[in-house]
Amino acid sequence: MNSETLYSTLNQELNNIKAAGTFKYEVPLESEQGGIVKAAGHDCIMLASNNYLGLANHPKVKQAAHRGLDEWGYGLSSVRFICGTEPIHLELEKLAAEFVGCEASILHSSCFAANEAFFAALMANDFGQTDYQDVIYSDQFNHASIIDGVRLCRGIAKQTVSKLYRNRDVAHLREMLQEDKEKNYRIKIIATDGVFSMEGHLAPLPDLVQLAREFGALLFVDESHASGVLGRTGRGTPEELGVFGQIDVITGTLGKALGGASGGFIAGRHELIEFLRQKSRPYTFSNSVPPSVVTASIEAIRLIEEEPSIVTRLHENTAYFRSGIKKLGFTIIEGIHPIVPIMLERRSWLRIWLACFLTKASISRGSGIQSYLREKQGCALRSPRPIRGKISTAHSRLSKRQANS
Ligand SMILES: Cc1ncc(COP(=O)(O)O)c(C=O)c1O
Repeated sequence: MNSETLYSTLNQELNNIKAAGTFKYEVPLESEQGGIVKAAGHDCIMLASNNYLGLANHPKVKQAAHRGLDEWGYGLSSVRFICGTEPIHLELEKLAAEFVGCEASILHSSCFAANEAFFAALMANDFGQTDYQDVIYSDQFNHASIIDGVRLCRGIAKQTVSKLYRNRDVAHLREMLQEDKEKNYRIKIIATDGVFSMEGHLAPLPDLVQLAREFGALLFVDESHASGVLGRTGRGTPEELGVFGQIDVITGTLGKALGGASGGFIAGRHELIEFLRQKSRPYTFSNSVPPSVVTASIEAIRLIEEEPSIVTRLHENTAYFRSGIKKLGFTIIEGIHPIVPIMLERRSWLRIWLACFLTKASISRGSGIQSYLREKQGCALRSPRPIRGKISTAHSRLSKRQANS
């Protein structure tokens, strides 16, 4: 295929994606991220971002970012083992580890990079053994970054076996572990999202902790949608489900509740984290997280620790929205997470329009519900399917008078 043929093939493929109704449009925002944003000249309620705690434009977080910029500059211009580590990076790593209940942590440029890094770093190393196999048991609905992490690992470490267990199905996982008992795998990892972002379901962590112990496996949990969100003090799914401090490896993002910019981390035992500092390729071959993001993320975690009302309010807003949307007659997938999947059949759109028309709620002027915007932009909606509303501390309850104005 020469380059011109390639470009015309790409154009054709883009048309195919549009025809299939799965083209992703990016809505231009005219304001900073928040509970209310401006788009197409209108104030819109943002129900699509992962700005769970409203920290993405919190004044103290913004101030901390400025401080980072002023004191530590714009960037480090290389990787930490080559050009030096700043104390703020070490401080954030310590804070993030403590926050999720682990001994230590290592920053990466994103949680995607962290998840890609982890499996390959560990399993591509023979540790002096010649004849061995490793195995990863992965929940079938794990995030793309875990899927890619496992794929990358299998590409590099060919002796790694990966097995999918049914979503949150502890009995299925137990069956697999039992079946494999005699196989003498060298390293066994159970990998799961703490919260599955499509439906807001929680992983059955207490059972997974139990299985990991029973079968000598390492439990890996991606807490991207849970850190700062779940648990009385925002320490995530382990806190919510009573197993805080009992997870072997936790990955998380700084791009959602913990400030909302970018960056990720892997947390676990000291020796594991030190090993990753040597062997994680996305860590050793990619630039450090910029100082302003580091200082702002430190501030974000401190705020969560020092002002528990930020988390409490998220929980209250979530309960309020979940009960309110049901009162309006919508069916939702039940749960406790601020991701609220609302089941919509085609006729439900009419009800949305009607409800918005009656209340003049800002949804009619362009809500943050992504699928709604996609529908407006001409994409097919396969129904019935849920759309997700994501609730934030930044949302406030409008009085009827405000809603009508
Ligand atoms: C479960 C999960 N893991 C990882 C990521 C990637 O996080 P980051 O944006 O820090 O790369 C996401 C982002 O959507 C996620 O939902």
